[in-house]
Amino acid sequence: MKSLGSKKNNLVWLAGKIISSQEAKISILSPTCQYGLNVFEVIRCYLDKKNDQLLAFRLRDHLLRLFRSAKIMRIKPKYTINEIQSIFIKTVAANKYKEDITVRIVLFINESGSWNSEYKGELLISPISRGRTHGFKTGISCCISSWERINDKCLPPRIKTGANYINGRMAQLEAINNKYDSALFLNNKGNLSEAPGSCIFIVKENKLITPPITASILESVTRDSIIKISQEELGISIVERDIDRTELYPCDEVFLCGTTMEIVPVISVDRIRIGNGKIGPITKTIRQKYFNVIKGKINKYKGWVTAF
Ligand SMILES: Cc1ncc(COP(=O)(O)O)c(C=O)c1O
Repeated sequence: MKSLGSKKNNLVWLAGKIISSQEAKISILSPTCQYGLNVFEVIRCYLDKKNDQLLAFRLRDHLLRLFRSAKIMRIKPKYTINEIQSIFIKTVAANKYKEDITVRIVLFINESGSWNSEYKGELLISPISRGRTHGFKTGISCCISSWERINDKCLPPRIKTGANYINGRMAQLEAINNKYDSALFLNNKGNLSEAPGSCIFIVKENKLITPPITASILESVTRDSIIKISQEELGISIVERDIDRTELYPCDEVFLCGTTMEIVPVISVDRIRIGNGKIGPITKTIRQKYFNVIKGKINKYKGWVTAF
């Protein structure tokens, strides 16, 4: 399997300093190592070639979600939001990337302890180079997973924590094994929830419909951006409501969205073709606008972009 990132020796922030990723070590006795106890964020930085700088997209909003996740998990970050923001910029800038990247910010427990230990959250910031994901141009095929999405009564999907991705792993591996590109989850009420690493929108009679934040989904930053951009810039009506499985098959367009995935069309579900099996016009228009926003080209949303 191809590993992520072109730089083998990138610089990361770990436990108070910038060091080579090859020297970075965490405790094998930590509950993070054993139980996946962490909270994290993935943030995209786009290269602005003209001004030779990187543009981090909605950095503050990602950090706010990191702190919300930490609060629910009762991990107390060692740093304030402002401190993490400046460490983020310092660490990413030290790498002198000249390409689009994603950056992982992880709060984790580095002491030896158990799953219920309440130590302070140590900070890891780790950038990796990242281009477009699979299916960006041509779209992807999805199945409805036989695995149910975790829910707020057991493992809250609202928390961005490593352990939640075991649920995603089961669905994704099953999908790949059955020759699909990815999976869509139904939640414990039988409604559409999200994909293993992204949120979902469908288009029906020119309306954009997406499951509500109570449908066992991560409160996605990209989802929020798409809702705002579509409403405010494109005049598209948005409906946040439960979606039945059988609404998917005859709808006009389906797309997934997330920081890493950006906006990727879904061209079939359970081998049933969606629309004409190509990226739909509304998905295309939203994607164009989204890319103008992330590149800081639309004044109204410049506050979402941190240049450095
Ligand atoms: C399970 C899940 N849902 C949705 C998303 C999209 O969230 P965001 O747009 O904040 O990256 C992600 C990606 O981080 C995810 O892992």
